[in-house]
Amino acid sequence: MTDRPMLDRSPFLQGPYAPVTEEITAFDLPVTGRLPAGLDGRYLRNGPNPLGSDDPGSHWFLGAGMVHGVRLRDGRAEWYRNRWVRSRHVAEALGERWPGGPVHAGMDFAANTHVIAHAGRTLATVEAGALPYELTDELDTVGPCDFDGTLPGGYAAHTKLDRRTGELHAVAYFWGWDHLQHVVLGPDGRVSGTTDVPVVDGPMVHDFALTERYVVLLDLPVTFSMDAAAAGSQLPYTWNPSHQPRVGLLPRAGTTRAVRWFEVDPCWVFHTLNAYDDGDRVVVDLCRYEGSFDVSALGSGGPLTLERWTVDPTARRVARQCLDDRPQEFPRVDDRVLSRAHRYGYSAATGQVDRGTVQMDGTFQDAAFADALLKHDLLAGTVEEHRFPRNAAIGEAVFAPSTPDADEDDGHVMAFVHDPDRGATDLVVLAAQDFAGPPVATVHLPARVPLGFHGSWIVDG
Ligand SMILES: [Fe+2]
Repeated sequence: MTDRPMLDRSPFLQGPYAPVTEEITAFDLPVTGRLPAGLDGRYLRNGPNPLGSDDPGSHWFLGAGMVHGVRLRDGRAEWYRNRWVRSRHVAEALGERWPGGPVHAGMDFAANTHVIAHAGRTLATVEAGALPYELTDELDTVGPCDFDGTLPGGYAAHTKLDRRTGELHAVAYFWGWDHLQHVVLGPDGRVSGTTDVPVVDGPMVHDFALTERYVVLLDLPVTFSMDAAAAGSQLPYTWNPSHQPRVGLLPRAGTTRAVRWFEVDPCWVFHTLNAYDDGDRVVVDLCRYEGSFDVSALGSGGPLTLERWTVDPTARRVARQCLDDRPQEFPRVDDRVLSRAHRYGYSAATGQVDRGTVQMDGTFQDAAFADALLKHDLLAGTVEEHRFPRNAAIGEAVFAPSTPDADEDDGHVMAFVHDPDRGATDLVVLAAQDFAGPPVATVHLPARVPLGFHGSWIVDG
């Protein structure tokens, strides 16, 4: 008797989430439209892709990572590849030898949440105590990475690169710690500094924000649950109504004692869009789930909206402003403006989440992701929508500038979009300044890409 019947009931193994079973390499992909000149690089995206009945991937967050990539050059889509990240477990399941390398706290894991490039490395990242995995340019696994032995603990899924300093910031957490850890990687790809910030209850800290002066910390009431862990939960983080929600401002080069905290109402935030300094105040745009958040069902007791939080250290308060009340997730800016004032943001419209995105009885809410991408002009206060055919299952949108020095929003927005008629996924390229218009180019992949998490446009170096 295997545990497959139980896993097969998981909604995260069905429909647009269903894992693929093959690794594919395809060259010279068909393109409808015209790929823009100068769009030379790799679009990579990570996401869970459980191996099978022996993989503990019954929750979306727990499946082994698979990175999907498309290489664009000279107006051509040169290749598509999808590759599992070879943790020890994945390598052995595939009958391969694990490449070996460092492991933090016994937490070897096929990093499934993001894929980034820094200091010449391509890295699949994940949070909660595990290390990133380094990949080759063609997505083969090199091995786990502790940045040449300079990383003291685990790492984080989300990172923020300050392009002026070349420093890559992250906030790591781990259930076995009584603190968060701000980690700075230098342009050389080695850890140049860490700051531990004490917290209680072991909060889940999926994302953070960065300004020119501060690391913005989110200490919200989804916390580690020893009871859930003892009961065998593979994702032992639960809503904790006794945990005081708060936002922290840690000066970038600050010491532990320099952090200042500001209380907020109970809510949950997976993702920030961006943050910046505004005089003495700090502005943070983010997707906020009202009320209590259930990580197991990915649902909230209230609506999900795009908000602006303005932290006023003098008045010791956080003012909230709704920027857009339609449900949305995976907010992204033009990465070049990270930590400085932004005008534009892009996100994926989602279904209603106040009853849970997916139901644990195996049925789907109509739709974990709706069939549209959104573009926000936060200066004008307007939103444009790019609609796709029904059941298109659209993921995160990533912005690629036309040139390194192009204005914000002068470039293209790309995302994986499932084509239900073809039974396979397209890489859709939109002109950011004609967002609602027809795609500039559509690259037809030879396979379906399951709904996943985060990705990057990595320009040829
Ligand atoms: Fe995320």
